[in-house]
Amino acid sequence: MTSEPARGPVDATTTNAWGSLTELSKNLRPDLRGWFAADPARAERLSHQAADLHVDLSKNLVTDDVLASLLALADEVRLTERRDAMFAGEHINVTEDRAVLHTALRRPSDEPLTVDGQDIAADVADELAKVYAFAEKVRSGEWTGVTGEPVRTIVNIGIGGSDLGPVMAYEALEPYVQDGLQVRFVSNIDPTDVAQKTADLDPTTTLFIVASKTFGTLETLTNARLARDWLWRSLVAAGAIEDSEDGRSDAVAKHFVAVSTALDKVEAFGIDPENAFGFWDWVGGRYSVDSAIGTSLAVAIGPDAFAELLAGFHAMDEHFRTAPLEKNVPVLMGLLNVWYVNFRDAHTHAVLPYAQQLHRFPAYLQQLTMESNGKSVRWDGTPVTSDTGEVFWGEPGTNGQHAFYQLIHQGTRTIPADFIAVANPAYPLHDADADVHGLFLANFFAQTKALAFGKTADEVRAEGVAEDLVSAKVFSGNRPTTSILAPALTPAVLGQLVALYEHITFVQGVIWGIDSFDQWGVELGKKLALEIAPAVAGDEAALAAQDPSTAALITKYRELRA
Ligand code: F6P
Repeated sequence: MTSEPARGPVDATTTNAWGSLTELSKNLRPDLRGWFAADPARAERLSHQAADLHVDLSKNLVTDDVLASLLALADEVRLTERRDAMFAGEHINVTEDRAVLHTALRRPSDEPLTVDGQDIAADVADELAKVYAFAEKVRSGEWTGVTGEPVRTIVNIGIGGSDLGPVMAYEALEPYVQDGLQVRFVSNIDPTDVAQKTADLDPTTTLFIVASKTFGTLETLTNARLARDWLWRSLVAAGAIEDSEDGRSDAVAKHFVAVSTALDKVEAFGIDPENAFGFWDWVGGRYSVDSAIGTSLAVAIGPDAFAELLAGFHAMDEHFRTAPLEKNVPVLMGLLNVWYVNFRDAHTHAVLPYAQQLHRFPAYLQQLTMESNGKSVRWDGTPVTSDTGEVFWGEPGTNGQHAFYQLIHQGTRTIPADFIAVANPAYPLHDADADVHGLFLANFFAQTKALAFGKTADEVRAEGVAEDLVSAKVFSGNRPTTSILAPALTPAVLGQLVALYEHITFVQGVIWGIDSFDQWGVELGKKLALEIAPAVAGDEAALAAQDPSTAALITKYRELRA
């Protein structure tokens, strides 16, 4: 396998397809009503199946010509070459000189994959076996704390990709969590987070998982130390350990495990490397929920369900890798996003899960999409040639309907929105005779219909509305949505959904010519926080070194701080 990156980026704006799309956009008069009337097969033609996901793209603002040009654009920028380079383990993360192989985490273990001379399929299988063995030990009660009590609460300490994936998946798969076990997630360095999450915990039945790819993240290491202090303090107070070096190291050995690529740093923290689970630098933090970073989840839902989750990821990987581009859902959805950002002036993209269990999915996607594609230079270091990275946001329906949907229906900007629902709920409750899930999904269908087809002035008038109120009650329609329907929120479906968005993000990155796998933009703030901390703590020289606004704010903070 070569470690050379594939050829440099193609400037998408110089392609023939970009020219065609510019022209098509200039002349496009979106008319979903007319388009559906003229082409009754539109919904069927523009709906696709990707593993268990039924994806209806027909309410997007595209004609066949637009779609053909988008696919031509993918061709001209050599999307499939880059995709294949990723799957093959080439160093497509150019600025960090790394392979990008989250897809290797979910391949069947009997399919070998050698990258940079290393049999990584075997490495992945070994580490996964270690995570599963640990999960079984905790779930069965074989793993005990200092007093011999089994674990009841796992606290995952991590941030960014070491938090958002596990917490999103834990919430999504809550019905699969073993009775008597719960996971909490501490991420923020705001001391409130660790204080609140430990306040009512019994230290004898609590296990901390410190999850950090680098094991150098200030927030995570600070929270890990706070948690360790809490553990020692409360175990001593409960008479469970001696207040001694031995007592404390026994407590860490039985109540702390770690997940990291930096096992030396784990040991320096005091955690036995035997109780640490590794992964590799070719797994980006935001792509790591399916690595050992998902250990808290694997314990909660068990190895079988975790394996099902991985199989779901893999099913979507295979779809992305092998489906013809015109039926390839991640490719089509990525291209549609490019269409909206670069040709229809969309600045944001809403993701609206009609599934309460997916309530952290938009937050998870924010890191995945915006840390990946919020870039101004291309992978060869030259400036980007078009806008990149739109803002992703969202909340579960129907809560969003009663909050921000007004803007999506009647605001001045185009906001493409993905609606996600499952046919079979985890909790099939009835309100008298009414199936509440049916009522819930009626909202899903109603919203996508209203956004697409709107309500004309004549239709408003026909309802007897006074003329001076008509314009306020008109819905323009032609507001683009994609509908994603799955049978149920199983581990496999969740894996498919996450992989779908990973690959959508990849497709957009390739069109824009950017390295979607580095994140240099978060480094400056981290460095400055360390430099500013002494000024906040009272160091006058450090304060004097700050710019006037920052110095004044720190001074104000110091005055206000009791
Ligand atoms: O905020 C940047 C970042 O590097 C993310 O990419 C990453 O997911 C997060 O910090 C946490 O990093 P780590 O897992 O190394 O603690």
